Amino acid sequence: MQTRLLKIDRCNQKTADLSAACELLRKGELVAFPTETVYGLGGNACDASASARIYAAKGRPSDNPLIVHIAHKEDLSVVGRDVSEGAKKLADAFWPGPLTIIVNRADIIPKETTGGLDSVAVRMPSDIIANRLIDESGLFIAAPSANASGRPSTTRAEHCMEDLDGRIPMVIDGGPVKIGLESTIVDMSGDKPLILRPGFITKEELEKVIPGIEFDPAVIARVKNENIIAKAPGMKYRHYAPKGELTIYEGDAELVIKTINEKTAELKALGKKTAVLATEESKDLYTADYVASLGRRTDEAEIAVHLFEQLRNFDEIGADCIFAESFPQGGIGSAIMNRLMKAAGYRIITLN
Ligand code: TXA
Ligand code: MG
Repeated sequence: MQTRLLKIDRCNQKTADLSAACELLRKGELVAFPTETVYGLGGNACDASASARIYAAKGRPSDNPLIVHIAHKEDLSVVGRDVSEGAKKLADAFWPGPLTIIVNRADIIPKETTGGLDSVAVRMPSDIIANRLIDESGLFIAAPSANASGRPSTTRAEHCMEDLDGRIPMVIDGGPVKIGLESTIVDMSGDKPLILRPGFITKEELEKVIPGIEFDPAVIARVKNENIIAKAPGMKYRHYAPKGELTIYEGDAELVIKTINEKTAELKALGKKTAVLATEESKDLYTADYVASLGRRTDEAEIAVHLFEQLRNFDEIGADCIFAESFPQGGIGSAIMNRLMKAAGYRIITLN
C-alpha cells in the first residue's frame, strides 16, 4: 500500500481540504492525524472492522482498548451511557483538550473498539485539524497513538511514516504537536474517580473539579510490580523503550553527572555507544558519545514536548546504553516520569 502524506500548512489549517481523508475514514480505512498531544491513528469507531485494521496496522494486542474521539461535547452521551455528573463536569472544564474520560459504553460503539470492555474512553481534542477531521467526516474516530506498538508515541508526521509507511493509506502532516505526551486518562465509570494515566492536565488541576481524585496505584508504582494490575490495559505493556538499555539516575545533580560520566567511560572502553538524556543546564557536562537535551528544567512543558522524539533519536544513532536524568514528581513531572520509567523498564538508580 502506498501511504499518501497530506501536508497541511498550520497557517491555513482552517481552510485546508480534508475531504480525501474524510472519504477514506468513511470507507473504513485508516488515517494518521495530528492532535495537540500526539499523532493518532484514526478509524471509524463504530465500525468493528476499522478497529481491527487499527490493531493490525500497529501490531497492537486487540485487548487494549482505543480512545474514541469526538468533535462536540454533547456526543459524550452518545458514545457513552449513564454519564455521571462528574464526567460532565470534567468535560466542561477541560474539553476540548488533552483529557480522556472513561464512561460506560453505549451500544453504538462496538466491543471491538473497546477491547471487549463495557466502558469507553472518550476525548474531544483541541487541535483544529483533529477537530475538523472528526466533524467533517461525520464519524466518531477511534484513535490510539500513531506508533508501532511498543515504540514511543509519534509527535511528528515523519515518525508516523517511520512506523506506518506502507501499512495505512494516509498520514496528515500538521507539523510538530504542541504537548508531546498522551492525554491524561480519568476513569469516571466506577464508584471512585481514578487517574489511569498522568498527562499534561495534572492531578492538581483535576482535584479542583473532582475533589479526592486519586492515581490508580499502578501509575505511581516505582518498580514493576506484577501484583498491581493497571486499570488501563495499555499501561501494562512494555512501552516507549529505545533499543538500547535505558537507566534513570536520580539524586544530587553533580553526583548524577559524575556517575554517568564514569559509567560511560567504562562502556566506551568496551566499545559500546553511549548516550545521555540531559537538559539545557547539564548537556555540556557529559562525556557520552551522544548527548540529547530535553530543554530547560524550569519549563516542564518544554521537557515533555521533546521526550518521545529524543527517545526515537537514540535508536536512530544506534545507542547501546542510555543514561537519563530524572525529573521531580508533581504537575507535568508525574507524566514525564511515568513515560520515562516505562521506557527504562523501571530501571532507576538513586544516588546519595
Ligand atoms: O493523547 C492521546 O490520548 C492519544 C491521542 C491520539 O488522542 N491517544 C492515545 O491512545 O494515547 P492510546 O491507544 O495509545 O492509549 C490509550 C490508553 C491505553 O493505555 C488504553 O489501555 C487506555 O487508554 N484505555 C482506553 N480505553 C479504556 C477503557 N475503557 N478502560 C481503561 N483504559 C482504557
Ligand atoms: Mg499509545
